[in-house]
Amino acid sequence: MKEPVNVKNIGLRGVTVADTKVSFIEGNKGVLVYRGYRIEDLAQNGTFPEIAYLLLYETLPNNNQLADFNKQLQEASILPAYIFGAFKNYPAGASPMDVLQTGIPLLAMIDPELNNDTKEANLRKAVRLIARLPMLVAAWHRIRQGLEPLPADHSLSHTANFLWQLNGEKPSKKMTDILDTCLVLHADHTFNASTFSCRQVVSTRAHMYAGVTAGIAALSGSLHGGANAKVMKMFLSLEEEKDVAGWVREQLEKGEKIMGMGHAVYKTMDPRAIFLKEMALNLGKETGQEKLIKLSLEIEQTALAEFEKRGKTEIKPNVDFYSASVYHLLGIPLDLMTPIFAISRIAGWTAHIIEEKTGEAQVKPALYRPKAEYVGQYCGLMGCKFDPLEKRK
Ligand SMILES: CC(C)(COP(=O)(O)OP(=O)(O)OC[C@H]1O[C@@H](n2cnc3c(N)ncnc32)[C@H](O)[C@@H]1OP(=O)(O)O)[C@@H](O)C(=O)NCCC(=O)NCCS
Repeated sequence: MKEPVNVKNIGLRGVTVADTKVSFIEGNKGVLVYRGYRIEDLAQNGTFPEIAYLLLYETLPNNNQLADFNKQLQEASILPAYIFGAFKNYPAGASPMDVLQTGIPLLAMIDPELNNDTKEANLRKAVRLIARLPMLVAAWHRIRQGLEPLPADHSLSHTANFLWQLNGEKPSKKMTDILDTCLVLHADHTFNASTFSCRQVVSTRAHMYAGVTAGIAALSGSLHGGANAKVMKMFLSLEEEKDVAGWVREQLEKGEKIMGMGHAVYKTMDPRAIFLKEMALNLGKETGQEKLIKLSLEIEQTALAEFEKRGKTEIKPNVDFYSASVYHLLGIPLDLMTPIFAISRIAGWTAHIIEEKTGEAQVKPALYRPKAEYVGQYCGLMGCKFDPLEKRK
């Protein structure tokens, strides 16, 4: 960089650090596209494997290409026994996100192409990761309950197989379709914190698995993917609350955030939240759990009215506000909500990692290396005097 640019303490908001062909957001208009296609179109008409293919190969698959991609996913749907052995030694209370994070280097150890950095090899690794992340989540969920992990059922779709391996029951078409749409909606989101982490790590020429491990770590935080579980915790804690509106006002007065609301890029409704809200409302009715829906609507409406009073009309529900209810109504345990985000976002992470590694979207990809302004102890360029241990007070 020729001229120093000072953008500190703004979390890099509005700073363009790379070019990408993977996805695009127009935050003021609530528009999200993957490889040129609107998210609404993809969620209504696509399946998760089709969208993963689109993210990786830059084009929608035809019938044969999709069949071949699904076959590759199925062939990769196997975990080495040492992973189960490791998981069986973990404490049963371990967080599924921590377990998932540790699972990625364990997968790296058996990847025959780990250090082959060609685009073709990285595409094959991406397929293996997309196939295996859901298996890690399902295997841990069973092991922590004292159950044996289940082998993949190749007669099922990618999403149905995840639910089967998780619950040990064949899921209904409806349940599979709803979860599949959730996976489509979460699959990519430009330079969000976890994707940036993946890209930053592989800009050092670290392998794809190292980048994905960093992505999972970043996703776990409650300001990012961890928000869905926080939203559900908030709903559960308010089940018996008589004055929900009062609680929301009190939180805001204390300067607390309402989880699942607000977004770094969207300054209007998150297009994914529009879908998820409708899905949650329908599911709530169908499952007779309208109490939860009533509660979420009350929180949303009170918060929106309060934000309006404070001139913060850009704060709206984001993807996590209603995805939490959808997952809950599908019977998914609270601590698996963020891992489910990960089994979708792996498609976007790997597409971005490949883009970072090939430099296809950029003139010249560079190692990310920002700088920080030093505000610590300073004794001039000669440095502070180092007193030997015995002379220090
Ligand atoms: C996601 C998030 C970090 C993006 O926020 P951002 O654009 O970086 O903006 P900030 O966090 O700096 O917030 C800007 C202002 O809006 C307020 N705000 C933002 N989100 C809020 C929320 N969910 N509840 C209450 N206030 C909120 C902040 O308190 C801040 O107020 P201030 O200017 O008076 O200090 C933020 O909205 C948030 O923390 N949301 C809750 C967590 C969440 O749902 N994360 C998932 C994101 S998909």
